[in-house]
Amino acid sequence: VTQPTSPSPSSAAPLGLREAFLLDPKLVFLNHGSYGACPREVLAAHHAWQFEMERNPVEFLGRRSAQLLAEARAVMAVAVNAPADDLAFVSNATTGVNIVTASLAKSGWLKPGDEVLGTDHEYGACEAAWQVACAATGATYRRVTVPLPFDSTACVDHLMAAVTPRTRVVFASHITSTTALVFPVAALCAAARARGLFTLIDGAHAPGQIDVDLGAIAADAYTGNAHKWWCAPKGAAFLHLRPQHHALISGSITSWGDVAESLAPGGLPSAFDGYTGTGLLQRRLQWQGTRDLAAWLTVPAALAFQHRHDWPDRRAECHRMAVALMHRVAASQGLPPIAPDDAFAQMVAIPVRHRDGDALRRHLFEQHRIEVPTTQHAGQTLLRVSVQAYNTAADLQKLEAALEDAPGRG
Ligand SMILES: Cc1ncc(COP(=O)(O)O)c(C=O)c1O
Repeated sequence: VTQPTSPSPSSAAPLGLREAFLLDPKLVFLNHGSYGACPREVLAAHHAWQFEMERNPVEFLGRRSAQLLAEARAVMAVAVNAPADDLAFVSNATTGVNIVTASLAKSGWLKPGDEVLGTDHEYGACEAAWQVACAATGATYRRVTVPLPFDSTACVDHLMAAVTPRTRVVFASHITSTTALVFPVAALCAAARARGLFTLIDGAHAPGQIDVDLGAIAADAYTGNAHKWWCAPKGAAFLHLRPQHHALISGSITSWGDVAESLAPGGLPSAFDGYTGTGLLQRRLQWQGTRDLAAWLTVPAALAFQHRHDWPDRRAECHRMAVALMHRVAASQGLPPIAPDDAFAQMVAIPVRHRDGDALRRHLFEQHRIEVPTTQHAGQTLLRVSVQAYNTAADLQKLEAALEDAPGRG
């Protein structure tokens, strides 16, 4: 994608990685997971797209946007090993999940009595999307326990053992939110496919934290965020659908793409293609009225930033730092890890003895300026630590020291 000129002055000297991000230097930032963090130069690229748009909004949105988005999608398609036409930009993984759940309900694909299986590690907002779609159709959403300590093979077995003749969908995260576990989604999708089930994978945390090979995973639908671990600007995510499902999908907004698609070829002036795009999936999802497309167009700049900074090596180092921290904290808390090292990527969920996780989170932030979330799973408080390329050993030492004197340890 041809990048417009940045409106910000480019820095004279190369920056260290911590300085490449805009994070407040007073913070110990160990929560990349919640909302990501965008490097300075990627944010400058984002702003540059906005400046470019405002030079001639009619040219940019009305005549060029479909082509610009197609170019950005093509770059992303290589990164996730998927045909670009099977990918659509969406604003976030929540939207990606909602598009699928609502479409399956609206199209009549989901029927009364059908069952959707999820695990007890799913993200609450996405579970809610399934519950709403199920309530609208007379289907049922059922949570299947994937017990801890986590065993990757047993995870697939647990879910498949819960399948009944009414089951039609399996829903699972690629990397779970509260427990930070990498689920074996390729094996899970293969097992589900063998039983004729539709699979939706919530990859909110996966792109950038692990390699995402959509061809190998072969889910029916997969949504992933660019704004978390690819470090793209907020509002950048994608939805991938196998071609046979494009016709099932509709956005929450009906707009010109739907008109173009419902008319016979040539029924709508081809000038509309300049913003609706031409493929079925794009026409259903791309043009939803006037909106800012800059975050999506910036995904190639985010990927280029990571490429230039040897991201695979940095990711591997972050993983080593995270699991080493997990073992040190586990020893000091006297609680075993919830999973083997290879079940985690750059996030670890570490059991702690504090019953009141929120009080612990507040203490760490208010007394030590450490930004780190706590979660609850099956009655256990977990500290979910993200290690990103801007973190240092000193950040993790500060967390360990702060944990030693944190009140409320049971
Ligand atoms: C597993 C999972 N799914 C979905 C989401 C929602 O992501 P977003 O807010 O980008 O829609 C999150 C957020 O952390 C998540 O952890």
